Amino acid sequence: MNPIIKTINGPVVVAKNASSLKIREMVSVGKLKLIGEVISVDGDNATIQVYEDTSGLAANEEIVSTGRPLSVRLGPGLLKNMFDGIERPLQKIMDENGAFIPSGIGFENLDEEKSWEVEIKVSVGDTINVGDIYATIMETKTIEHRLMSTVEGEITDVKPSGTYKLEDTIVKVKTNKGEEEELKLYQYWPVRNPRPVKKVRPLELLLNTGQRVLDVFFPVAKGGTVAIPGGFGTGKTMLQHQFAQYADADIIIYIGCGERGNEMTQVLEEFPELIDPNTGYGLMERTILIANTSNMPVAAREASIYTGITIAEYFRDMGYHVALMADSTSRWAEALREISGRLEEIPAEEGYPAYLGSRLSQFYERAGYFTNLNGSEGSVTLIGAVSPSGGDFSEPVTENTRRSVNVFLGLDRKLAYSRHYPAINWLTSYSNYVDTIRSYYQEKTGEDIIAVRNELMNVLLQEDEVRSILMLVGKDALSDAQRNILDVSELIRVGFLQQNAYNDTDKYVPLDKQIEMLNVIRNYYHKSAEAIENGVPYSKTYNSELINDITQMKYTIKNDELDKFTVLNNKLESHFLGLRGGEY
Ligand SMILES: Nc1ncnc2c1ncn2[C@@H]1O[C@H](COP(=O)(O)OP(=O)(O)OP(=O)(O)O)[C@@H](O)[C@H]1O
Ligand SMILES: [Mg+2]
Repeated sequence: MNPIIKTINGPVVVAKNASSLKIREMVSVGKLKLIGEVISVDGDNATIQVYEDTSGLAANEEIVSTGRPLSVRLGPGLLKNMFDGIERPLQKIMDENGAFIPSGIGFENLDEEKSWEVEIKVSVGDTINVGDIYATIMETKTIEHRLMSTVEGEITDVKPSGTYKLEDTIVKVKTNKGEEEELKLYQYWPVRNPRPVKKVRPLELLLNTGQRVLDVFFPVAKGGTVAIPGGFGTGKTMLQHQFAQYADADIIIYIGCGERGNEMTQVLEEFPELIDPNTGYGLMERTILIANTSNMPVAAREASIYTGITIAEYFRDMGYHVALMADSTSRWAEALREISGRLEEIPAEEGYPAYLGSRLSQFYERAGYFTNLNGSEGSVTLIGAVSPSGGDFSEPVTENTRRSVNVFLGLDRKLAYSRHYPAINWLTSYSNYVDTIRSYYQEKTGEDIIAVRNELMNVLLQEDEVRSILMLVGKDALSDAQRNILDVSELIRVGFLQQNAYNDTDKYVPLDKQIEMLNVIRNYYHKSAEAIENGVPYSKTYNSELINDITQMKYTIKNDELDKFTVLNNKLESHFLGLRGGEY
């Protein structure tokens, strides 16, 4: 007897006669052939999570196993495309059916009709191992897609380089077990299993974002893990977009997870217009979008981050640096909570399942910098937005995420209200990669940028103290040194940390300019503090024109006019030298 539907509870279907089903298996549910995944088998019953709207299903309809776990198809056609949480091509489905995605459209994923120009990289008689590259395809203007073997053995047949479609067999391999395997233009991979690597490597490179508060104050390493928690409207999505636009990763995977549909529409309208500052080509050439907005089925939202990270690992295996953004992991956790509730599991904190923390850490553990099976090096950087209601960071999703990540970028409502963007609170945020990046900077620039960063961070901490004194006793009671701290900290905040996403010069700032800016502020700090220590009154050290020039340098000195920093530094020197001539 075949498995049939016993009960339907939202995205959860219980099957009976189901002893033949296996856990994790992908199944087709009911007459509508909805896509589902077996999440538990208990004797004769099986529980199935369905990735589509179940309202058209009825009891006693048949369930058919596909014989394989929930998997994604990996091959050319991923880039420049947009998929739903289980890799169905959203743009194509919407073009054919309108904005409302019908149920039961099946397992469609990559385009099988499209022809690709394939360059074969192997010959008959070669031995091939798992992960070895057997052919390449220029998938977009900037990215070469590398087809990697899923088997090991000896190559017995090879097609010539030329034009092929997804299902064409281009290489045949006789495996060590004596079986013949056909290699096509794609492979499948089960989304819940991390793809294997040869070796885990230390994280030693900066993921350059062109955002000063990140690159200098809270650096992200290639292969690192980042959380962006922030209350409503504090700029999480904007910051994720900045990563997607400017990070010097080869491949960007952007998952819109449970957010409002219009946010995703915005991405769709915005991204194709954007230019990659590193290649000069359109940003979409290196980008894959995955969208599971709040109006789409909740189980597919749960799957979307696994689909995304599996695609990320696939490109990593080709030898690329991949950065994945998930906006928002809180909506993903809510999907987990809803399904868990339907399964009648015992809830833990705030109704989330007890395994929330372990699921989050399993996700972030798939980040890293690796030597791949084929000997190439690649990385996956994971950047998740978290949306705690009321901006309360002690709620379970934020707390559990904090335990799994190395960079915590706490967005602050007060900063956002005062239009200090990105609204990253420098007192609550941290990066565990500061030391890693210290040697990176030393090698790259010959300067200890992190020492300057630490010094200026210390000024910000002092500012906090001075401000509490100010509240108690008023400005007149402050010492000259304390007043100077307020000025320097304002230079750091406004002149450096604040960055205008809507200004052409300021939206992306190369490292060498960031370092020049940092040094100007450090110089001002040193000279002014030294003068005050030598008895020069604050009224003399303070020079509003100089302060204004430093605050405005982000706009007035264009990214390719760095020699203008000499003029600014000379102005600074001569102001303080003038004081020295007159006073000390
Ligand atoms: N870097 C920035 N520069 C200028 N304005 C910004 C910046 N970041 C955010 N904003 C402003 O804040 C608004 C809200 O930002 P955003 O949508 O990114 O917040 P969010 O935290 O994702 O909100 P939600 O909680 O609704 O998802 C933006 O529309 C924009 O006006
Ligand atoms: Mg948002």
